[in-house]
Amino acid sequence: MSIIVKNITKLYDTQKALDNVSFKVGQGEVVGLLGPNGAGKSTMMKIITCYKRQTSGYASVCGMDVNDNPLAVKQVVGYLPENNPLYLDMHVKESLAFVAGVYQMKNIKKRVEEMIELTGLGKEQHKRIAALSKGYRQRLGLAHALIHDPKVLILDEPTSGLDPNQLIDIRNLIKDIGKTKTVLFSTHIMQEAEAICSRVIIIDKGIIKADDSIENLQKNFTSQFVLQIEVDKPISMPKLKALKGITAVEEKGNNVYIIESKSNITKEIQQLIADQGLVLLDLHRKEHTMESIFHELTKN
Ligand SMILES: Nc1ncnc2c1ncn2[C@@H]1O[C@H](COP(=O)(O)OP(=O)(O)OP(=O)(O)O)[C@@H](O)[C@H]1O
Ligand SMILES: [Mg+2]
Repeated sequence: MSIIVKNITKLYDTQKALDNVSFKVGQGEVVGLLGPNGAGKSTMMKIITCYKRQTSGYASVCGMDVNDNPLAVKQVVGYLPENNPLYLDMHVKESLAFVAGVYQMKNIKKRVEEMIELTGLGKEQHKRIAALSKGYRQRLGLAHALIHDPKVLILDEPTSGLDPNQLIDIRNLIKDIGKTKTVLFSTHIMQEAEAICSRVIIIDKGIIKADDSIENLQKNFTSQFVLQIEVDKPISMPKLKALKGITAVEEKGNNVYIIESKSNITKEIQQLIADQGLVLLDLHRKEHTMESIFHELTKN
């Protein structure tokens, strides 16, 4: 296992930021850590990367205890912290060489060039960091996290504040990195989780609410069926609402209806439509979106 987190609790004074959290991330997995503001995502990442100590519980990276071997853990972990702190007065190349030096790397010049190439910083490489746009600062933060060729990457909101084009570039970069490394990253963008992750962990108020593949979450998350139907003329609403098991009906206009029910009532709906002499133009089951799942799990 690349990351093992077992019964981690973190107290800030009397506030529980993490409450008995456990999960594992296997080698080569790309896992999204999702949760509302204040859920405990950054705190969890700081513990895994040895920047904060847990109050109780155990965490290890590549088999090394984060409390016993912080230096060894930092050697195998690349970390992009929240808000991407950078020395604004340094130049791009200088800052990369500085970080490579901290890791006591050999052949620093070559490695800096490789990182500039990998993160698409070519055109900006001679600039002072203060002069870089947000997206390029984010790329530089990623280059810092990657420079010592870590086995595990911990990225805290790596795409926050990026424009749509940069977003796609950075997502693709993370996806590419995920082919050879273990990645744990946090995001508030559900489409991003869907685009990048093999699995998501949803955390709320320091407690894990879900830990599964997106596919499984969408399949198993609720017992509700959501159907969308389209007919040629309006359906009688009282008759539709009277069907057994129906919990909600929404009229979308143009004779399109979204129907929620406790069981699969496709047959009953088809029967009702036939009885009313209507023509069924479309009937399909709607998947639960990651947004609706996230909302459902973290709403209270
Ligand atoms: N140094 C600290 N001292 C006191 N409380 C803290 C400290 N750091 C975090 N907290 C509290 O711990 C809780 C979890 O914070 P954390 O930053 O881990 O959340 P998060 O999930 O990363 O949120 P966001 O999505 O807003 O980044 C919050 O209530 C926060 O106020
Ligand atoms: Mg955070």
